[in-house]
Amino acid sequence: MRVLLIGSGGREHALAWALAASPLMEKLFVAPGNPGIAPLAELVPIGMEDIAALVTFAQENAIDLVIPGPEAPLVAGITDAMEAAGIECCGPTAAAAQLEGSKAFTKDIAEAAGVPTARWERFIDAGEAHDFISRRSPPIVVKADGLASGKGVVVAQTMAEADDAIDRFIPHGPIVIEECLVGEEVSLFALCDGANAVFLGTARDHKRVGDGDTGPNTGGMGAISPVPGFDPAPAMDRIIRPVLAEMASRDMPFRGILYAGLMLTEDGASLIEFNVRFGDPECQVLMARLQSDLLPALLAACQGELDNFDLRFRPEAACGVVMAARGYPNAPESGSVIAGLDHAAAVPGAMVFHAGTAWRGEQVVASGGRVLTLVGTGLDAETARQAAYAAVAAVQWPEGFNRSDIGL
Ligand code: AMP
Ligand code: GLY
Repeated sequence: MRVLLIGSGGREHALAWALAASPLMEKLFVAPGNPGIAPLAELVPIGMEDIAALVTFAQENAIDLVIPGPEAPLVAGITDAMEAAGIECCGPTAAAAQLEGSKAFTKDIAEAAGVPTARWERFIDAGEAHDFISRRSPPIVVKADGLASGKGVVVAQTMAEADDAIDRFIPHGPIVIEECLVGEEVSLFALCDGANAVFLGTARDHKRVGDGDTGPNTGGMGAISPVPGFDPAPAMDRIIRPVLAEMASRDMPFRGILYAGLMLTEDGASLIEFNVRFGDPECQVLMARLQSDLLPALLAACQGELDNFDLRFRPEAACGVVMAARGYPNAPESGSVIAGLDHAAAVPGAMVFHAGTAWRGEQVVASGGRVLTLVGTGLDAETARQAAYAAVAAVQWPEGFNRSDIGL
């Protein structure tokens, strides 16, 4: 098969690595990709926002399957555009991608499907929102309705914080105010074909920039898989499958990767949010454990053929540690030289995935916020953690930093 993968992060490097290993792969293109992906695929200099150019490229290069990594092109309708051109695309249509693109849409679907989720209210008027929270007590969760790159959620511990979040978000569009759930968080991944869902793994990510979950929110500083002690079967039955049925009944069947953020409350798993794609760095740890061939699974999802499909995982655990450029997430510094990547990759059980890197002559330099993900695998979580941190230690990059408590 001829495949076009879209994106440039560590998630896409991990996907390219898994896809390139498929015996069905004839030729892999990645747009725009990154230096780590270059040995696995042909890089195509088209940005993920240029959907028209991606469709033309797919047509001219006889692409059989398009795989969008990030949410932005999905929400913008890349699947609709590819399908209109007769090209299979493994991801939801723009209508179905509202499961990530609109928090209010997701809440409405969850309620209709009978899925447990925090009580909520949507507002377009700041006065009404302030009035609403004046009758409750903190903590109060305030969310921007639309995509906000991880910056659209405030779990306010005081009324002042909640009021401030309302005033900051409202000028940009509708907001959702929610009851605050308490518990441990788990991410559950499912591959969906519109009617059927196949379990694709669990992960736990670490969103704050600093050790001990301190400092500002980031895209994710590390992840582990599987989540110990979590049985995914009830959540597949009570959350994923009812949502698929509800989406199908509204004529917007969900195909692609459904990533459910769950809170394990005293009353069981409750839905926090959906994403319509793999997480980053969650994908890196999931791919490290996936034993089945990813390519036919993604194709089966597009073609509505996932019934009786089964994905197998290695018994190992995986731990992924993100190395970020100094200053991330606010103002990451670019251009510093990164050495030792071969040594890191040679650590037993370790893998190196690139994200924000670039070539400068023969050297690899930092060119983004999250720059590398070092994944360690091992027969238990502790061995995986040690392999990941041994790989981190092998990277020579004084201008980079990482959390030291991923997987502890
Ligand atoms: P994001 O992935 O940017 O939407 O961030 C959402 C994060 O905010 C989640 O991972 C939770 O930690 C937190 N969060 C969102 N909604 C709630 C809620 N209703 N109760 C408690 N925490 C929440
Ligand atoms: N790591 C969180 C995300 O990809 O949304």
